[in-house]
Amino acid sequence: MLKIAMVADLHHFSETLHDGGKAYHLRESSDQKCLAESGAIIDAAFNQIAESDCDVVLIAGDMSNDGEVVSHEEVRAKMQKLAEKKKVFVIYSTHDWCCDGNARRYKGDEVIRDVKTMSVTDLREFYKDYGENQAYDIFVNNIGAASYAVKLDGVRFIGLNDDYSGTGKAGYTDGHFEWILKHVRDAKASGEAVIIMEHHLIMAGISTLINGGQMIGNHEERVKALAEAGADIVVVGHSHMQRNTQFTAENGNVLTQINLGALCGHPGAIMYLTVDENEFRTNIEKVKKFTYNGNEYTNEYMTEHTKNVLMGILRSAVDNKEEFLERVNSIDQHFNLDEKYYKPVRMLVKYLLKLTVGRAGRLVNFLTFGKGVSRKAVKQIKNDNLVEHIMDIYLSVFDGSAKHYATDDPVYIIVRDVASLPVRVSRVLKIKALRKEKIQRIFAQIQEIAEELTNPSEPDNQHMVLKR
Ligand SMILES: [Fe+2]
Ligand SMILES: [Fe+2]
Repeated sequence: MLKIAMVADLHHFSETLHDGGKAYHLRESSDQKCLAESGAIIDAAFNQIAESDCDVVLIAGDMSNDGEVVSHEEVRAKMQKLAEKKKVFVIYSTHDWCCDGNARRYKGDEVIRDVKTMSVTDLREFYKDYGENQAYDIFVNNIGAASYAVKLDGVRFIGLNDDYSGTGKAGYTDGHFEWILKHVRDAKASGEAVIIMEHHLIMAGISTLINGGQMIGNHEERVKALAEAGADIVVVGHSHMQRNTQFTAENGNVLTQINLGALCGHPGAIMYLTVDENEFRTNIEKVKKFTYNGNEYTNEYMTEHTKNVLMGILRSAVDNKEEFLERVNSIDQHFNLDEKYYKPVRMLVKYLLKLTVGRAGRLVNFLTFGKGVSRKAVKQIKNDNLVEHIMDIYLSVFDGSAKHYATDDPVYIIVRDVASLPVRVSRVLKIKALRKEKIQRIFAQIQEIAEELTNPSEPDNQHMVLKR
C-alpha cells in the first residue's frame, strides 16, 4: 500500500515583492489566489501533510506566482523541511518560469516590472532533488526541462514537464510521448499501478468551452494512447478547478484524470490518494487553518476571498466608479474597459444584486413568451436572492463540491432551462447564423456546463474509489 499526498498551484508570492499598498491591493482583490498569504498557506499545508500518514508528496507545478527567483527560493526552503519527513516530487510549469513575462512587484501605487525570474534550465537545476535525482530514467525536452520516471512501492510514477509540444501548445513532442508510453507499458508488464503527473489537462473537466485552452495539444490522441497502454491515473493542476474525469479506451482500460483545485486559494486543496492491491481511493482534505501576520485564519478565509473577487467587482460597480474600473482593468494587463461603459454596467449590476429568483424568472418568461423557465420551479424559490445561488455554483467551479441537485430541485430545473434557452431560441428563430454548426456546438456546451455544475457526472470529485 502506498499513500500519496498532492497539492497543486501553490503560486507562492514572496512577501518581499509588495508593501500592502494600493497597487498590490488591487491586484489581489481581482484574483482567486491569496497571494500575500501564500507562504502561510503553504506552511500550513506542508505541516498538515508532514503529520499525516502519507509516504509521498506530489507537487503539480505553478510553485511560484510568476517565476520570481525569491518566491522559488522560499518555496524550496519549505519543501526541504517537508522532505525531511516525506519523499517529495515536483514538476515545474509555465508560471514557474514566467512564460508571459508578467512578473511584477508592488510599491504603493506603483506596479514595477523588474523582478528577477527563473529560466527553465534554472528550474531544472533548482528542483533536481525533487525529481530527476530520485529517478531511474529521465527525458530532457526541447526547452531543457526534465521529465522523470520513478519506481515506488508497487507504483510507477512519471513526473512530466508538458511545456513543449512543438506546436505552440502545452504537451509533448512525439519522441517525448514515446518515452512516456515506454515506461507505462513497462510498468504494466510488471503489474505496477501507473500514476502520471503533468501540469496541464489531458481531458476537459467541466467542458471544452471552459477547459479547452488549459489542455495539452493533441489531447484526444494522447489520452487514447495513454489509456490503451494502461496508465491508471493522471494527476494535474493548472485549471484551479477540482474535477475527476475518466476516459475508457477501446480495449476497456480506464484512465482517470484527477484535476486538483488550487492550494493558494479556494478550496486550498490537499488530496490523499491511497493505492493498494485492489483499488485507488482519494480524499480531499483542504488546508484547515493558517497563521498570517500573527493572526489565525480558517479555510473559510480563502472561500471569502474568492467570493469577494466577484462581489467586490459587483459592489464597486454600484458605488465606486474609479474602484470598479481599476478592479476590472487589473484583472489582465491587456484589458482596458472604457469608462463610457460604466453607467450601463452600473444600472445592470444594481438591478442584478437586488434580483430575486421570482423576478428573474418572470423576466425570462416575459422575453420568451412564457416558455423560458419552469414557472413551478421559480415559484418554489421566488424570494431567494439570485446572486446567492450564482455564488454557490461559482464556488463549486473551484472546489468541485458541486452539490448534486436532485433533478426535481427548483435550482436544477431553472439552471437547466436557462442553459437550454440558446438552443431552443435558435430553433424557433429562423436566423441562419445561429444554426451554424459551430454556434450550435457552443450552445450544446453551455448545456453541458450547466449539467456538470448542478448534476455532476461520476466519479465523485472529493472521494473516489476506483477498482484496479
Ligand atoms: Fe496555476
Ligand atoms: Fe498553470
